[in-house]
Amino acid sequence: MPWHPSLSVGIELIDEQHKEWFNRAERLFDAGKKGQAKEYIGELLEFLDSYTKKHFADEERYMRQLNYPGLEEQKKAHAAFIAQLAKLREDYDASGGSISVIINANRIVIDWLTKHISNMDRQIGEFVRSK
Ligand SMILES: [Fe+2]
Repeated sequence: MPWHPSLSVGIELIDEQHKEWFNRAERLFDAGKKGQAKEYIGELLEFLDSYTKKHFADEERYMRQLNYPGLEEQKKAHAAFIAQLAKLREDYDASGGSISVIINANRIVIDWLTKHISNMDRQIGEFVRSK
């Protein structure tokens, strides 16, 4: 599932990063379906991991500048997701690079992103507009 305008939080920087994030997650999924080289999937997994960390850092900085009251809750959710990504990576490595692990992992990632954006990130936009 690609990024969809219904997932917009109304803050350009965050929306643009979310789009890129979805594209990357989607590419990983496609690579898995096409049975592409394990190395390539490893590379994408690594990129997804570093992009996620960059995105969370940027989002948290933005919330801090705003004195956003939900910052701590967001930080906890972000840290939990980073741990989940690391676990997926371990599972992938432990499975010897199984494609089904990747496809399953991607379902988890896309589900998490969709829920997190719809529930938590959208509130950042609402907070900005209420000021
Ligand atoms: Fe967030």
